[in-house]
Amino acid sequence: MRILGIVCSPRKGGNTEILVRAALEAAREAGGETELILVADMNIAPCDGCGACLKNGTCKIKDDMQMIYEQLELAEGVVLGTPVYFMNVSAQAKAIMDRTYALLGGRKLRGKVAAAIVAARRVGAGEVLSLLYPYFMVHGMIVAGGGIGYGMEKGDVRQGVGGSPSLSALEEARAVGRNVVRMVGRLSKSRK
Ligand SMILES: Cc1cc2nc3c(=O)[nH]c(=O)nc-3n(C[C@H](O)[C@H](O)[C@H](O)COP(=O)(O)O)c2cc1C
Repeated sequence: MRILGIVCSPRKGGNTEILVRAALEAAREAGGETELILVADMNIAPCDGCGACLKNGTCKIKDDMQMIYEQLELAEGVVLGTPVYFMNVSAQAKAIMDRTYALLGGRKLRGKVAAAIVAARRVGAGEVLSLLYPYFMVHGMIVAGGGIGYGMEKGDVRQGVGGSPSLSALEEARAVGRNVVRMVGRLSKSRK
């Protein structure tokens, strides 16, 4: 069972990365194999709306998104992590989301399990989750929920609270990883 984590923060070693790593660690403990992509140093152009992918299912922009397409296709579960930037996802997350337009026609993500991890200082995390869930659903993905971690400076989420008042940020991220593995497992049993 392959679980892919994508960290869409431009800040390496930041709160989103800490949370996604925690989710993937819990996913491994629950029996998954994991892969981590850090977009901070990657070159991922925004979608240029050329529409070529509607005809042939591939994106003509040859940048680091091509590797992410491959990893998305291999994964059974995906944990997409983003910081909140002005009540929205990061520009890096939005570029990746838009570029997955190329996977839509062929329904390449359909049936994969998806979850979101959101790092925020104070406001907008719930709003960002509610942007990400319909994005997953448009792709026909099965939404395994999401987690929030509060923190401002790099590393703050290690002491931060989660979106659920009873959980710390790290506990909430770990629960996301476990939920993704559990859902992939249930789906693979029901498909046999
Ligand atoms: C451009 C920018 C916009 C931000 N907008 C928000 C916001 O709307 N709400 C919020 O709670 N935090 C906001 N923040 C704070 C980050 O979400 C927060 O520091 C987060 O932990 C960063 O995650 P990272 O360490 O993975 O980059 C913003 C930060 C930046 C740099």
